[in-house]
Amino acid sequence: MTYSRIVGTGRYLPERIMTNFDLEKIVDTTDEWIRTRTGVERRHVVDPEQTTSDMCVESASAAIENAGIDVTDIDMVITGTTSPDVIFPNVSTIIQHRLGVPACPAFSLEAACSGFIYALSVADKFIKAGEAKCVLVTGAECITKLLDWGDRNTCVLFGDGAGSAIVVPSDEPGIMACHLGADGQYREFLHYPVGVSHNLAAAGTDEANIIMSGNDVFKVAVKTLGAIAQETLDTAGVSKEELDWLVPHQANIRIIQAMAKRLNMPMEKVILTVQDHGNTSAASVPLALDVARRDGRVKPGQLILMEAFGGGFTWGSVLMRM
Ligand code: ACO
Repeated sequence: MTYSRIVGTGRYLPERIMTNFDLEKIVDTTDEWIRTRTGVERRHVVDPEQTTSDMCVESASAAIENAGIDVTDIDMVITGTTSPDVIFPNVSTIIQHRLGVPACPAFSLEAACSGFIYALSVADKFIKAGEAKCVLVTGAECITKLLDWGDRNTCVLFGDGAGSAIVVPSDEPGIMACHLGADGQYREFLHYPVGVSHNLAAAGTDEANIIMSGNDVFKVAVKTLGAIAQETLDTAGVSKEELDWLVPHQANIRIIQAMAKRLNMPMEKVILTVQDHGNTSAASVPLALDVARRDGRVKPGQLILMEAFGGGFTWGSVLMRM
């Protein structure tokens, strides 16, 4: 049986850092409110001319180097993002061309904060089917470009970044189980109300912003993530106690703490980057994974559970041996 395995990771965070104290100067908020309600202390923010593909090229290059592969080995590019450079061509084709990856399938997935987990799960399937041998998987977001910096309900939560992984076939797992899900009935709880076919005119407005019902997101996220984590563990026949690390979507410290409690995991076994990155949507899981691999906490052979939840709602989890 062929499995898939992550053999390299990389990340990119924009140079510009915005602290909670910086936000105090532009909206009616405090560092104390943001830290206690969300866990965020600072976030990286792209410059106006910087694009999602700019960040992806950096994070992918770091992952390629970390995996010790050649760029010409890559035969598929998948990117999870809801903030691509342009409507088309899709961001993966831009990355493929800029990196010098030979012509291959290159496509993007739109699953909000679950984008990387969705993309990784698709890469796993292509590798298991024998149709890909080296997949570049990236989660990336210029989500601050969708923010209204005057809306304190949302502007304090998010940040920008990109995280990449190189996924290859393996005789041993590797990825042991993936579970994806979505339920569009929750759309109104978290959405960006305009796009191409439903544009500003159709929405009857001249500006748009991320619209969020924070309390509702919180409740559904905790309930759903707890259930899907258990389903993923059961599929692989692994108990909670065997997990070495939880690498959660970094939406909010309180959602992460609630998840850890459901899994009976002490916070020492949870990788946290929310304080430094904020919620980077599709980038948050690969950013956290790369931080923990490079600082030596996540080691080869360890058992990792990754999970994410985002607008839609969409959700997903991946259990893997590093
Ligand atoms: N600074 C100061 N006060 C604020 C701020 C702010 N930045 N934002 C909201 N408030 C005020 C509200 O206006 C409200 O004031 P009021 O009582 O006078 O009306 C008060 O704080 C309490 O507001 P709540 O929304 O009830 O605050 P809550 O404790 O629920 O925290 C939060 C809000 C942090 C958004 C919380 O609901 C949450 O964590 N939700 C999860 C949502 C999330 O993580 N979204 C990220 C995207 S989704 C994802 O990635 C999964």
